[in-house]
Amino acid sequence: MRTELEEAAATDSLRRLRQATTLAGDRALFEGRELLHLASNDYLGLATAGQEVAGSDSLPWGAGASRLVSGNHPFVEAFEQAFASFKQMEAALLFNSGYTANIGILSALCRRGDLIFSDRLNHASIIDGALLSRAELLRYRHRDMNELEHLLKTSAPNKRKLIVTDAIFSMDGTLAPLADLVTLKERYGALLMVDEAHSGGLFGDDGQGLTQHFGLSARVDIQMGTFSKAYGRFGAYVACEALIRDYLLNKSRAFIYTTALPPVLVAAIRENWLRARAERWRRERVLALASAFRAGLAERGFDTGGSECQIVPLIVGDNGRAQRLAKQLQERGVLAVAIRPPTVPQGSARIRFSWTAAHCEADVQAVLAAIDACADDNERGDDDE
Ligand SMILES: Cc1ncc(COP(=O)(O)O)c(C=O)c1O
Repeated sequence: MRTELEEAAATDSLRRLRQATTLAGDRALFEGRELLHLASNDYLGLATAGQEVAGSDSLPWGAGASRLVSGNHPFVEAFEQAFASFKQMEAALLFNSGYTANIGILSALCRRGDLIFSDRLNHASIIDGALLSRAELLRYRHRDMNELEHLLKTSAPNKRKLIVTDAIFSMDGTLAPLADLVTLKERYGALLMVDEAHSGGLFGDDGQGLTQHFGLSARVDIQMGTFSKAYGRFGAYVACEALIRDYLLNKSRAFIYTTALPPVLVAAIRENWLRARAERWRRERVLALASAFRAGLAERGFDTGGSECQIVPLIVGDNGRAQRLAKQLQERGVLAVAIRPPTVPQGSARIRFSWTAAHCEADVQAVLAAIDACADDNERGDDDE
């Protein structure tokens, strides 16, 4: 263990916890200093909202056991039904986190002998779910529909197939080509699962996600998402047809063998979900700020990959450079994290900026100015590279 950690330190890839407190959505107290906070997934600025949750007094703080064991709280059941109709799907089922949902869904729906087709940049929880299922995992290049079609075409026609994709890729801010994925899944008789973790609350008429944004709700079999990002709480859902919900309820070990979310937390989720729908300005603002920031970076000749949403990477390549830039930005009052392999492919280390509705236009200018100042320092050789 020691040797491995020393090796990680030598390649600038050692992870460690740092003390941080979110003050308000746009500021964090980070290792004792107040910084502009560009490192959270609280995209709508709702994580610090509503310390008092209306109507939650009569709800328990602990679920007591799994919903199959201790009984199904009517409040939770009613929320699932309301959320399913919001998603324009027949049914919904809550999971304890996005990570648990992905491992629970994939390991229940797929088994040895099945085929899972997965975008190379899909989230780690999707990979872990696929591995747990023991199905064969076939990974295609990021958003490469030709490669996906080739894999589908050359696979055994009698095998069960599932295509899985993030809707928004968390380290790149790119959008999945959902219309093409739906065409391919229909052409080759596969199921399609879309992870709306970073798109829920932001895209779609009322924040339903990217699937609904593209008018594809009826053609995507399984939509999952979390309440931990734009909705500023915790927990996750799957929205699907009633048959799939029943199946998951019976087969998903990550649903069956764990204590359910506390009903009081479900009330807090519900409150932010309603708030996100009512306060449309939140999603409009965050997307506009990110777009202004992207334009500023492009003017300066920086590589932001194919970002089209609130997540904007500044790709620098080398691990050490990314780490140094993150440190320089912190010295200049901006908290944004360096993301390194294995979270992103080798040679594509980056700073990930995530914008939220708690930010304002002046914050965009402040971050761009901090980046300019770091670039000036490095040109003068202040960088210790
Ligand atoms: C695409 C994606 N899916 C799932 C998850 C897991 O969600 P949660 O944080 O609710 O466990 C994340 C992020 O953590 C994610 O980026």
